[in-house]
Amino acid sequence: MIVKTKPFDGQKPGTSGLRKKVTVFQQPHYAENFIQSVFDALTGFAGKALVLGGDGRFYNKEVIQIAIRMAAANGFGKVIVGQDGLLSTPATSNIIRKYQAFGGFILSASHNPGGPDGDFGIKYNSSNGGPAPEKLTDAIYANTKKISQYKIEDGADVDLARIGTIQMGAMAVEVIDPVTDYQILMEQLFDFDVIAQMIKGGFTLRFDAMSAITGPYAHAILEKTLGTAAGSVVNGTPLPDFGGHHPDPNLVYAKDLYDLMMSPAAPDFGAASDGDGDRNLIIGKGVFVTPSDSVAMLAANAHLAEAYAKGLAGVARSMPTSAALDRVAAAKRLDCYETPTGWKFFGNLLDAGRITICGEESAGTGSNHVREKDGLWAVLLWLNIVAKRKLSVKEIVEGHWREFGRNYYSRHDYEEVDAEAANKLMADLRAQFPKLKGAKAAGGVIATADDFEYLDPVDGSVSKSQGIRLIFEDGSRIIYRLSGTGTAGATLRLYIDKFENKQLGLETQSALATLIKYADDVAQIKSRTGRKGPTVIT
Ligand code: G1P
Ligand code: ZN
Repeated sequence: MIVKTKPFDGQKPGTSGLRKKVTVFQQPHYAENFIQSVFDALTGFAGKALVLGGDGRFYNKEVIQIAIRMAAANGFGKVIVGQDGLLSTPATSNIIRKYQAFGGFILSASHNPGGPDGDFGIKYNSSNGGPAPEKLTDAIYANTKKISQYKIEDGADVDLARIGTIQMGAMAVEVIDPVTDYQILMEQLFDFDVIAQMIKGGFTLRFDAMSAITGPYAHAILEKTLGTAAGSVVNGTPLPDFGGHHPDPNLVYAKDLYDLMMSPAAPDFGAASDGDGDRNLIIGKGVFVTPSDSVAMLAANAHLAEAYAKGLAGVARSMPTSAALDRVAAAKRLDCYETPTGWKFFGNLLDAGRITICGEESAGTGSNHVREKDGLWAVLLWLNIVAKRKLSVKEIVEGHWREFGRNYYSRHDYEEVDAEAANKLMADLRAQFPKLKGAKAAGGVIATADDFEYLDPVDGSVSKSQGIRLIFEDGSRIIYRLSGTGTAGATLRLYIDKFENKQLGLETQSALATLIKYADDVAQIKSRTGRKGPTVIT
């Protein structure tokens, strides 16, 4: 059936699809308009398969049913949907690739809170399993501004609890177990027997699924297959409101895990993942591994796992991620790419076989096995490395710093600040930064001051204005950018990175104090945002 509709304001997909408050998505026709705008931006999907799943957050169930009906009415041949409408983001990417689907929808607002007052999101991934490229999201946005009708089948909801295939008109709906294909992939990549052996020998861990999507995956892989004790996986049942928690695996929202890992009762290894399962937090007994360090350490040791034994094609990090990875790349003579923030920029490099491992400071790490970052993958690669090296996480981390030096690194977020003030701050910085080049500041000299611009080496596309960088002669960096994933006001992110070859055991914030102070002096962050300090420090 065809339903007449009118455009809504602001259905512009950001870094990770369209993300809004649940109440916004609940407006009649809102989700339908966006889904139809995606379909209208695609060609050649008739008869092909579409993958559907979400992180189980509030409103997931409703939108899954809408998407199934709309896929049928628009002429897809098949929908592959996770049982109960569940699929993690990396699992969705894998299923799109494995079954050569045309694309897929991931229903999630990632690490944002859920529940009736929380956030919801819809993200479209293409046939390579990765987030829609900018050209496509631009076309989708253009469609949202002129949409006048959408197509949807009538009829009862599909029973998503039962595994198996049923028909909806000419379209097949296949309900699959969300974990099976993902687990098969992980078993191909890693030495499960070596990890299981270590666990049998008494190695203990805690994985916090934060009441989000990774619970079922972690129960199946860590507990049932690798043999960690029952109860090693905590908050393992996906809840529509994530139990009222903020499913963002950082030191603020995963504080319980952090406190445990710093206490005498700590297990050998602690980890957590986010709402949709693509982010990771790694904490060893007595040591937090920053995501920027983690990607560098994984790249340095990946050859110890089966899938990466032949070495890496190259590596990549997002621009604000610390330069720790660059040092590993230089030592191993690997190409190292610096991309704008957002996983989609890694897609071309992965597809072209130029890189094998990549990561972002925001707790995203991944490889060429899918086209999304992958939380449990990072956990398993760490476990594989620990099992092979027979060292503790702390020993591996400290050994890495001794070998490559240490990048002290922190991100300061000013969340939900007044959008006008934040935009003005950035505009003024843009006008000001050319004058900062050559300035003596914060104990050094600013060698480069620019607004990061990326030339994609694979398709030649250019992404401008990706963040203002002040790069010092010794490689220290101050970076300012506005978040592309917030749902209220603006979020200003300040990133500080400082390389140190000798003093490896300092406390991070004090090691960075001079740079942090200078960053505020230049941009007047506190006075312009009216805040005493950042909301979140990671
Ligand atoms: C944030 C992170 C970025 C990540 C994105 C999606 O985007 O900073 O690294 O790719 O979420 O998970 P931002 O809000 O900074 O635009
Ligand atoms: Zn996520």
